[in-house]
Amino acid sequence: MPEDRLTPVTVIGLGSMGTALAEAFIKAGHRTTVWNRTTTKAAPLVAMGAEHAASVEDAVAASPLVIACLTTYDDTREALEPATAALGGRALVTLNSGSPAGARQMAAWAVGYGARFLDGAIKNVPSAVGAPDTLLYYGGDRTVFDEFESTLKVLGGDTVHLGDDADLAALYEMAVGGTLLPALVGFFQGAAAVQARGLAASTLVPFTAKWLEMINSVLPIFAQEIDSGDYSKPMSSVNLFVAGITYDEELGQEANIDVAWQAPLHELLRRAVAAGHGEHSISALVEVLKQPERMA
Ligand SMILES: NC(=O)c1ccc[n+]([C@@H]2O[C@H](COP(=O)([O-])OP(=O)(O)OC[C@H]3O[C@@H](n4cnc5c(N)ncnc54)[C@H](OP(=O)(O)O)[C@@H]3O)[C@@H](O)[C@H]2O)c1
Repeated sequence: MPEDRLTPVTVIGLGSMGTALAEAFIKAGHRTTVWNRTTTKAAPLVAMGAEHAASVEDAVAASPLVIACLTTYDDTREALEPATAALGGRALVTLNSGSPAGARQMAAWAVGYGARFLDGAIKNVPSAVGAPDTLLYYGGDRTVFDEFESTLKVLGGDTVHLGDDADLAALYEMAVGGTLLPALVGFFQGAAAVQARGLAASTLVPFTAKWLEMINSVLPIFAQEIDSGDYSKPMSSVNLFVAGITYDEELGQEANIDVAWQAPLHELLRRAVAAGHGEHSISALVEVLKQPERMA
């Protein structure tokens, strides 16, 4: 039974994540209106107590706070197009992945129809929605965040407003997410290497976990070096990493693993040496990654 004192919420987009968001609001006692292009996905939520809007316009009109969780910003605009007349004065929050440019475009579109706009990112999987330590961050209209903070915290206790720029969540989402694929592929390479010796990938897990803790612990040191631009007191130098290149290649041959995905990383190390960073901290790779200013 919804509680009258709690903010009514609309959730648009009932994929894996949108369904988890709607469930969290229903369980917390919010009157929750849902809409999805494929209408059958609303049924389990209706069984839990959600109201199913007959149209996307009805869904937007049902609540002061509208949360859209579709695949992309383009999909969100396409789905909301029939509901633009209802957006005026409402708080629209998007919770999809995308680029900062996509978030800015989305914000301009929403504000153009009179909506108050916030863009967020969920830094976890659907099953973690609603947990006290689940992280969500937002960028955009601070008044929306302040007004609805307690409602947004239903989705995760670690809820942060990054600033008034609507592209900040997308920026941090991508900046943080950049670690994911290289870290995972590194783990998969390690798993293939131990399997090649007849050992289970699971034997690697405690050691890789400890390794990731070590990486976690040195990030503030690297960030300090990058922010100050002083790479002269290396904990681990670029040259040290260059020395390891041959080990990767030898392991690849011995374990019959394709280590070609590492070639661009090795190339980056060599470019750093060529640029005079050999004796500098490995964090000096940031300087190699930065492109020279494009000419106007
Ligand atoms: N799942 C995760 O682990 C996770 C974690 C963090 C962030 N996210 C982000 O959350 C967002 C949603 O992810 P998801 O896992 O829920 O994806 P999903 O299960 O594939 O669901 C996608 C949703 O978007 C809707 N949709 C897509 N294009 C549409 C269009 N043109 N018009 C109307 N509706 C459209 C789909 O409607 P139909 O049902 O009609 O197809 C569905 O409701 C993504 O941006 C994702 O990156 C997901």
